Amino acid sequence: MNIKLEKKPILQINSDLLVLGVLDTKTQKCETFKAIDNATDKTISKYVFLQEQFKPKFLSTYTLPTLGKIKTPKILLIGLGEEKELSADKVRQAAIETAKKIKSYKNVATAAICFPLPEKAEEYVQAITEGIIIGDYNFDKYKSEKSKNILKNVIIASKSTSKSIQESITKGEIFAKYTNFARNLSNEPAQYATPTKLAQLAKAIPNITTEIFDKTECKKMGMGAFLAVGQGSDQPPKFIHMSYKPTKKAVKKLAIIGKGITFDSGGYDIKPPSSMLNMKDDMSGAAAVLGIMSAISELKPDVEVHGIIAACENMLNGSSYKPGDILTAKNGKTIEVDNTDAEGRLTLADALCYAEELKVDEIIDIATLTGACMVALGHFASGIMGNDEKLIDDIQTASNKAGEAFWKLPIWDAHMDSLKSDIADMKNTGSRYAGASVAGAFLKNFVSNTKWAHLDVAGTAFLDTAYKGFPKGATGIGVRTLLEYITR
Ligand code: BES
Ligand code: MN
Ligand code: ZN
Repeated sequence: MNIKLEKKPILQINSDLLVLGVLDTKTQKCETFKAIDNATDKTISKYVFLQEQFKPKFLSTYTLPTLGKIKTPKILLIGLGEEKELSADKVRQAAIETAKKIKSYKNVATAAICFPLPEKAEEYVQAITEGIIIGDYNFDKYKSEKSKNILKNVIIASKSTSKSIQESITKGEIFAKYTNFARNLSNEPAQYATPTKLAQLAKAIPNITTEIFDKTECKKMGMGAFLAVGQGSDQPPKFIHMSYKPTKKAVKKLAIIGKGITFDSGGYDIKPPSSMLNMKDDMSGAAAVLGIMSAISELKPDVEVHGIIAACENMLNGSSYKPGDILTAKNGKTIEVDNTDAEGRLTLADALCYAEELKVDEIIDIATLTGACMVALGHFASGIMGNDEKLIDDIQTASNKAGEAFWKLPIWDAHMDSLKSDIADMKNTGSRYAGASVAGAFLKNFVSNTKWAHLDVAGTAFLDTAYKGFPKGATGIGVRTLLEYITR
């Protein structure tokens, strides 16, 4: 899809569809609205508005033919809601809805989008770009009948075509393209997205250096927690380290770790069928990290970024780790396995130790870690916690811009107390209540003095019902927030 800006008056733009964003105001002040309304014999104001066929409530839509009165054969009206409540996030959602609507039409290869843009339009233009690409997404790889994505060109009507607005289109394209990349990867079944596959994908990213460590090398590095989780699977574990270094001196060094359990059966503490069903998504953190590293290879920020994934499958066979086993993590701490289904934190423990040895300024991990987080926040928000308030605040600020909600949860000593073991340094599970914080407390044992934030995306990575324009399935959560955080 090609997305570009156009300064020409809207009525001079050639397109198959004119998308008009309409604010919920008593009188339509917008010049473009008036121009289009006048050119179509006031069809919109007379027939549509007055007859109340369409009210510009947020995300309501109405399609009308223009019967040869203007160049464009069809107009799509999309409600943007109250003017004072308009935001980049709302504009992104309206663009998602627009792209979905366009899929239902037959002959729309070129759409011209006319939304009310503020003087400084960069953020809104980025949001429109992202929304169109995210809304146009289908996961139909395994369908015999593919949906035809007919939308080829998108023209965004804009008073300015300055370099900075052009750049916001490029930024939006990259943010959305790799959101969709992460969605694809988490939507893929576990038979496809194996640890080996994740390693191959990491290797294929241009402009970054990738090292893959297999079982023997991980053993030498002392990754006893990570290796235990993967030892019951026929799929070999892969520890993936991608690094991007800017050509200029880096303003800071960052490590992002993605949970990469390519299938979580629960192990011997096996999950019931309904809970196991979507466990191909347990590598959504890894998918986000792969997407982010790919995006970074194009965006080339002045930040050194290490992308880390400890990828394996949590399965059952005669070699699987068992409840009661005692594992030694890379930093020498011992862990009594209380529950083989609390595997993500074990893999993250070694990944956190590895990241800290890179002497980075900040570590951020993103993981589908706990059902408890999903119970607390649902698919409405991801959990965020860590050891540094400013880092957490800054990620939250970035997430607000990206339109992804992150809500702060505590990590207290009391949470850690519940992980006490009689025979090892800690158990891998503690109090069932506040389970997201308890998992966070466990992870904290593997970060000694680096700023660290933990993102629990168990409820937001994979939807079982549509939400905010995203259909059922993978959302690519975290890609846009962390890209915003890294490139801000
Ligand atoms: N992958 C799951 C968490 C999860 C649950 C992700 C639902 C997405 C949706 C994780 O490995 C897990 O099984 N966690 C256990 C921990 C428990 C045994 C302490 C859980 O949340 O039940
Ligand atoms: Mn599990
Ligand atoms: Zn898991």
